[in-house]
Amino acid sequence: MDTAVEIDGIPADEIAKQFGTPVYVYSFKKIEESINKIKAPFKKGPGIFYAVKANGLLSILSFIFQKECGFDVVSGGELKRIRAAKAQDAPIVFAGVGKEEWEIKEAVLKHNLLFINSESIDELKLLQKIGKEIKKEIPVSIRLNLDIEAGGHKYIETAKKETKFGITPSQAKVAYDLIKKSDKLLFKGFHVHLGSLVDDSSRYIEAAEKVVKLFDEILSMESKNNKLYYDAGGGFAIGLNPWEKDFDFEKLAKELEPIIEKNNLNLVVEPGRYIVGKAGFLLTKVLGVKVSDGKKFVIVDAGMNDFLRPALYGGNHFIWPAKGEKIPDSPLEKGNIDIVGPVCETGDFLGINRYIPDVSPGDIICVFSCGAYGASMASRYNSRRLPKEVVIKDGKPIVAKKRENFEDIWRGELLI
Ligand code: LLP
Repeated sequence: MDTAVEIDGIPADEIAKQFGTPVYVYSFKKIEESINKIKAPFKKGPGIFYAVKANGLLSILSFIFQKECGFDVVSGGELKRIRAAKAQDAPIVFAGVGKEEWEIKEAVLKHNLLFINSESIDELKLLQKIGKEIKKEIPVSIRLNLDIEAGGHKYIETAKKETKFGITPSQAKVAYDLIKKSDKLLFKGFHVHLGSLVDDSSRYIEAAEKVVKLFDEILSMESKNNKLYYDAGGGFAIGLNPWEKDFDFEKLAKELEPIIEKNNLNLVVEPGRYIVGKAGFLLTKVLGVKVSDGKKFVIVDAGMNDFLRPALYGGNHFIWPAKGEKIPDSPLEKGNIDIVGPVCETGDFLGINRYIPDVSPGDIICVFSCGAYGASMASRYNSRRLPKEVVIKDGKPIVAKKRENFEDIWRGELLI
C-alpha cells in the first residue's frame, strides 16, 4: 500500500513501527516555518513569546529559544521547565489569574523578566509588597478584559467580561495610578488575550484600538513619552484539517503595524498553538474494528487521556490512516465511523461521525494538528502511561520523551 502520511518526508507508518504507539511526533522544521510566518510580514518585530502551556517539551523549548523567541508562562512549574531546558536567558512575560508569591519571586529573581501581566488590583498590591521585600523593582503590564467575543469553544474564550481574566477598562485607571504611585512597580504597558483559535484578524485590531484609546485617556505624559509595550496575546488559529486555512499574519501585520507605529509602541505576541500545533501528529495503532447498527467503531490505542481536545472541546482534528488512500484536499462528507480510544468513557473519542478509508488491526492512524494542547494536556486516567514524544530534527526522528513506566503512574503514593 502507498504511503499516505509523511512527516518531514518520513512515512508516518515507519515512525510508528520504530517507536511504538501511541506516540506524538513533532517536526522542528515545521515549528521553524511557523515562527518565520509570524515574523515575515512585520517590518519590525514583533517580539514572539511562545506560550509554554501549548507544549512544554524541553527539546521544543530549547529549539524555540534558539530561534530567538521568548516565553509566555503561567506558572512556577513552567518557569522551572524553562530552566530545565537551559533557556533561562530567554525573556519572559508572566500571566495567570492566580500567581503565588514564590512564583512571582522566581520570575523576578531567576529570569529575564520583561513584565508580569497583572490580572487584578489585589495582585498589584502583592507585587508591590514583594518588590519591597526583595528590594527590586518589578516591571508590570495591565492585562485588560475588553469584553471581546473571539475564539472557539466557550471554555477557551478569555476576553468576555463574564470570564475570570484581566482588569476591566473602568478599573484600569485605578490599576495604573496604583503602579505609578508605587516605588517598586514599573509600568510597561497593556496586555490582552482574546481566546483561542481566533481566525479573524479584525478582533485583534478591535482590541488594539480599544487599548490605544485607553492609553490616551488614562496615561500621564511621562508614560506616553516612554516606549510602552502592547502585548496582543496569543490565540492565532490553525487549520485542524488539511483544507482549512491558518491565521493570516499578512493581514494582521498590515492593519496592526500602523497602529503600533503611530502610538510609538513595542508589539509583543504570545502564540502557542500557531507555533507547534501543525508541527505535531499523534500516531496510534488500530486495535480492532467493530460494526454495530450501521455504526462503525475503529478502536485505537490512544485515548482521551492522551489527546483530550476532541472530548473536551469537540476539537475536530483530521484523522487519516498512514497508508492507503491519499489525503483529501477538500472537506469530507460526514461519515458513520467513530475513532475511539480504550478508555472506559463514551466521551473517549478522537473523532466521531467521520469517514476514513478501511483499516484493520495493526494499521497506523494519524491525528493531525495536535502539537499544541495534546501532550501538554495528557493525563494518566485509567492508569495509562503518558505517551512517548519524538522530534524530527534535521530529518531524523529522535525520542525526546520516553514513554513512562507503570511505576511512574503511582510514584509518590503511599500505601497505608
Ligand atoms: N497567552 C495567554 C495569556 C493565554 O492564556 C494563552 C492560552 C496563550 C497566550 C496561547 O494561546 P494560543 O496561541 O495557544 O491559542 N487547552 C485549550 C487552549 C487553552 C489556551 C489557554 N490560553 C485548547 O486545547 O484549545
